[in-house]
Amino acid sequence: MLRSALLFAAIAAAAAAPTQAADPARLAIGRTATKAEIAGWDIDVRADGHGLPEGSGSVRDGQKIYAESCAACHGESGEGKLADRLVGGYGTLATTKPVRTVGSFWPYPTTLFDYIRRAMPFSAPQSLTADQVYALTAYVLHLNNIVPEDTVLDAHSLPKVAMPNRGGFTSPDPRPDVP
Ligand code: HEC
Repeated sequence: MLRSALLFAAIAAAAAAPTQAADPARLAIGRTATKAEIAGWDIDVRADGHGLPEGSGSVRDGQKIYAESCAACHGESGEGKLADRLVGGYGTLATTKPVRTVGSFWPYPTTLFDYIRRAMPFSAPQSLTADQVYALTAYVLHLNNIVPEDTVLDAHSLPKVAMPNRGGFTSPDPRPDVP
């Protein structure tokens, strides 16, 4: 009963909401965002690498940055500490205790770049340069034995890195209740 009352209230509120976008000139508020402002938000990187910025970074550079900016929360070698474990867990996904890490679970290397650039370090997101993010991506992949120690990654090479669980996501969805 309560649920249907709430649902009705939600529908009524939606119906009452204005359907047209407000005219900024008439209301004298807001302004069109500048190209630079839009570029600051437009940082998504797609699975195929579309959207990766210029720049590059090596495993070795990544090791230094990781020690300074990441190890306190994720552990010296990505084993996890205050925050998520980033390394290992191979072969555990189909067991009763799956350990999902960048190495064992994530299907695309490009997502790692996107995530670090967007959200890490947790205390200062989006403070890293593109070169630093490439380097950290290379280092975390190296910690997972996915790329060798002399690797340098850029927009061209990163999408080509083969992730161990790339084939682990199946389509169409096998759950019977999902059309
Ligand atoms: C202050 C602690 C802290 C620092 C420093 C930090 N992280 Fe994180 N990190 C987190 C937390 C907390 C999460 C989980 C966030 C969430 O789930 O919303 C996370 C999640 C992640 C993940 C996703 C893990 C997963 O499997 O979901 C990656 C990758 C990552 N961090 C990389 C980094 C890198 C690289 C750095 C260094 C630039 C870094 N982090 C620095 C706290 C931190």
